Amino acid sequence: MSKVMVMDHPLIQHKIGIIRRMETGSKEFREMIGEIAMLMCYEATRDLKLVDVNIETPICEMTAKELAGKKLAVVPILRAGLGMVDGMLTMIPAAKVGHIGLYRDPETLEPVEYYCKLPADSSEREVFVVDPMLATGGSSVAAIQMLKDKGVKRIRFMCIIAAPEGVKRMKETHPDVDIYIGALDKCLNDHGYIVPGLGDAGDRIFGTK
Ligand code: PRP
Ligand code: URA
Repeated sequence: MSKVMVMDHPLIQHKIGIIRRMETGSKEFREMIGEIAMLMCYEATRDLKLVDVNIETPICEMTAKELAGKKLAVVPILRAGLGMVDGMLTMIPAAKVGHIGLYRDPETLEPVEYYCKLPADSSEREVFVVDPMLATGGSSVAAIQMLKDKGVKRIRFMCIIAAPEGVKRMKETHPDVDIYIGALDKCLNDHGYIVPGLGDAGDRIFGTK
């Protein structure tokens, strides 16, 4: 069964309050999304496995720790997920980056796929899929299915704001994927937007509309 973790760190909550405000402009919105992603990455990587390695400091030999196995990959769902990549890479600079292009059809709310490019060795990596918004769950469910179809076995999903409807759909469809959430909101409105949410994340990051 998937683990669902809602972040309660005060810095994360404070910054989410800033991006929700309608008067926050694109520059500050982008900066905050990056900082929230960095803080969430720190929390979401707490349980990564470590192995002992023998090293030499300038003083003596010792047994130090390093991350076990093949390293990590970050896969943003375009467009809005791009805003989280730099924050993730600040914490895990050796991670490779893949991209999945999906947009929600405004009428049907179904995801439409238009791009997928992953690191060649993704199937050996722990993959963090990132997208600021989990609304109906259509986009994240489809993105994770695309990864699984390409042989990726270890997947985590990270979003900044989620609706209960999307969390339920993710848990039912991908029970093996842990979900990290910045804030869990009340519901979706008739247009599939999260309430209270923050509006359209892609438009607010890139200043479109
Ligand atoms: C937004 C958001 C998610 C999706 C969430 O992207 O970034 O990918 O909607 O909604 P869902 O859970 O109901 O699928 P959007 O489709 O607006 O595309 P964009 O990032 O290119 O603007
Ligand atoms: N996508 C967004 O950008 N915002 C929402 O509230 C729902 C989907």
